[in-house]
Amino acid sequence: MNKYFNFPIEKFQLKETPFYYYDENLLRDTLKSLIEEIKEKPFIIHYAIKANHNLKILKIIKEFGIGVDTVSGGEIKCALEVGFPSDKIVFAGVGKTEKEINYAIDNNIYCFNVESIPELDSINEIAKNKNKIVNIAFRINPNIDAHTHKYITTGINENKFGIYINEIYDIIDNVLNNKEKYSNIKFIGIHFHIGSQILDMKIFLPLVNLINEIQEKLKEKNIEITYIDVGGGLGIDYENPEKNPIPNFKEYFNLYSKINLKPNQKLHFELGRAIICQCGSMISRVTYIKKGLNKTFVIMDAGMNDLIRPALYQAIHQIRNISNLKEEKEKYDVVGPICESSDVFIKDYYMNKAKKGDFFAFLSAGAYGESMAFMYNARELIKGYLSSEF
Ligand code: LLP
Repeated sequence: MNKYFNFPIEKFQLKETPFYYYDENLLRDTLKSLIEEIKEKPFIIHYAIKANHNLKILKIIKEFGIGVDTVSGGEIKCALEVGFPSDKIVFAGVGKTEKEINYAIDNNIYCFNVESIPELDSINEIAKNKNKIVNIAFRINPNIDAHTHKYITTGINENKFGIYINEIYDIIDNVLNNKEKYSNIKFIGIHFHIGSQILDMKIFLPLVNLINEIQEKLKEKNIEITYIDVGGGLGIDYENPEKNPIPNFKEYFNLYSKINLKPNQKLHFELGRAIICQCGSMISRVTYIKKGLNKTFVIMDAGMNDLIRPALYQAIHQIRNISNLKEEKEKYDVVGPICESSDVFIKDYYMNKAKKGDFFAFLSAGAYGESMAFMYNARELIKGYLSSEF
């Protein structure tokens, strides 16, 4: 029997479905493995809170002493609310509003990952009014293709993210030579994020090489940086979650160890999915089994509003009928109740025979599941529970 992926279905009877279920043991074991792999390395981890901002989850992650990567005032607020130290919070995003910048400065976050000159000017102005100096890094768009789904590729020229690599040296020179104008900004480093759900480590290699080149170039120019942030992107095994519940952190960090760091430099990571994905499952019950002409539809009480990934990215989540552990396979289209034809979780999928009322577990749903849920059709917002709450 698998150490994880055992669901207390008798206890599930007492809760209204659908809901997210987080296996606390798997979350903790994942975090332990992560910490183990960076031990004795000059690496700093920021959890990409966009993957899941459930406060119960954040409290557990905080225990492991890591920081947070945020992209909105709301995310900064969540992080502060559960007690993450402000000097471990970084803030990225192409559209930081004045309200959000004010909030971030007032709360003394560690660094703004700046994505454009207008944004830089805005941060400088706001900091000046408060008489504060704030740390900034430039997010560089390295024009490296992550070869992942087009909606989660972020580091190629046509994306809205970051500052083009060709312009970056002029921009850095401009900031450093214009101390009067940029009086309230301290340039501390560089930031990247090429994309998400990357399983082939070779894809990160051009980024590693590019950073080494940039390091050389900055050295020639006598420019010192202390902060190098490579973003997130480490993928997980959606096909075989039971077999690979914990990502291969070792291989990932070994690759990044090829970056030549100076003694005063730290390499920062913003991992989201790799930390939180496999411990979360969406639990939903079968409302009806409906025979179509050539297909059998299993209509669930969860819809695309509760888990948008299949509809938005054509993502495939393994689904288990946890009420019937016998191996009698049937072929189904598993769908939701929403009035949209894209409200389909999976088509022509073989799984253990289902009947009305059965509990299904949609696996690998801890990242970008609950955090992307919405209330279409005036449905209640889905809740999330830790395994220790059952
Ligand atoms: N840092 C930045 C600047 C990011 O934009 C992201 C993700 C991360 C870190 C964390 O990436 P991760 O380690 O989780 O791959 N909703 C999509 C994923 C969108 C990712 C957006 N940015 C999905 O469900 O696949």
